[in-house]
Amino acid sequence: MLTANSLSIWQYLSAFPAMLAGRRHHRAALRIELAQLFEVEVGRIVLFDSGRAAFGALLRLHGVQAGDEVIVPAFTCVVVPNQVPPTGATLRFVDVGRDSLNFDWLALDAAITPHTRVVVVPHNFGIACEVPTWLREKQRHVRFVDDAAHGFASRCDGQWLGTYHDGAFFSFEYSKNLTGGIGGMALLPAGSELPPAVLPELPCGDEWRLAATLKAHLLSARWPLLGRCTMAAVRRLGMVYRSGDGEVARGEPHPPRAMPLLSAVLLRRQLPTLAASIAHKQQLATRYQRALATLPDVQQWPAPQGTHWVRYPFALPFAVTDKAALARQLSAASGLNIGVWFDDVIHPAGAFRHGYVAGSAPHGERLAASVLNLPMNIALPADAQLERKLARLSRALAELLRQHKDPA
Ligand SMILES: Cc1ncc(COP(=O)(O)O)c(C=O)c1O
Repeated sequence: MLTANSLSIWQYLSAFPAMLAGRRHHRAALRIELAQLFEVEVGRIVLFDSGRAAFGALLRLHGVQAGDEVIVPAFTCVVVPNQVPPTGATLRFVDVGRDSLNFDWLALDAAITPHTRVVVVPHNFGIACEVPTWLREKQRHVRFVDDAAHGFASRCDGQWLGTYHDGAFFSFEYSKNLTGGIGGMALLPAGSELPPAVLPELPCGDEWRLAATLKAHLLSARWPLLGRCTMAAVRRLGMVYRSGDGEVARGEPHPPRAMPLLSAVLLRRQLPTLAASIAHKQQLATRYQRALATLPDVQQWPAPQGTHWVRYPFALPFAVTDKAALARQLSAASGLNIGVWFDDVIHPAGAFRHGYVAGSAPHGERLAASVLNLPMNIALPADAQLERKLARLSRALAELLRQHKDPA
């Protein structure tokens, strides 16, 4: 899958000499730069090795404990629910809305109980939303925490996602809006602080793994064949960096660590070009929206003007048995890299289920079976060649829809 969405090869290469300034320098500078971007005090920015670790810290900040309930959307990544059981709280999945990728506020209101302590608010694909005032006022005992992993620097009604609820967590993993290879950040609610903690560092070998994996991603986004060969070589050498198997297969919580030095430097490199990266992705989104609008049966979602898309989602009007195979087929037909997020209510398919009862979130299940997505990457020009690829994609999708309506 095409990733490293906002990172240029130059920013990647120039990160290595800059690392000589050291971890403390780069982490401190990054926190200041992020605080300036979000217009918040520096104390509200806390860096981690991942978004999941930042979520765990927010659960602790809100004092989540046994007897509490944490609501998580039933269209998410397994590493989110993984952080809840260690607090002792009960985890509950609540369906996403029929017509949105995020919650239906009335359904969420009905699902909240006196025990609900935290609701994780999704902003899938970077589409930022805001909990209505009536719901916040009615459910004053609930803390609404933004899962902003897909929407770094997205805006909603002119406000930065993450600044207007009760804290937020962001991800800087390979595939996210900005990439540090890995990395995460908690944006704390105004006036709150996390107790100072010395987090373990990523082992040096893992930092080299990150660098090697990221290089393969960067090449794939520009020269797919070279990228594939590099990734195969990196894999062969055992240099791929990815989530622990136990986290995906057994739902194990993630032990928090410090943000790696390489990640901090890479993120600092991407911040000065952030506005241009977002503008470019919005141009891609406009082209995608226009091309897919020629197929009225294909669902798209409205998004606020300031959306920082992580991928551009669209849904087919029927459930697909093997989305990965279809994505490969559409990628080959169009020349565009089609993705499958999320391929299960608890992504990835086959991940630990945390007691999720099949059928209990019909909208999330429908989305998981029908949503595909298009790439958002600064290396993908919004030019005539993209239009040709989109025309090929539209033809392939039109044929698929025709076959579905009339299998004979
Ligand atoms: C919606 C969502 N939330 C949270 C995360 C966790 O982010 P990280 O991988 O940085 O822990 C992911 C990861 O892919 C995600 O897709």
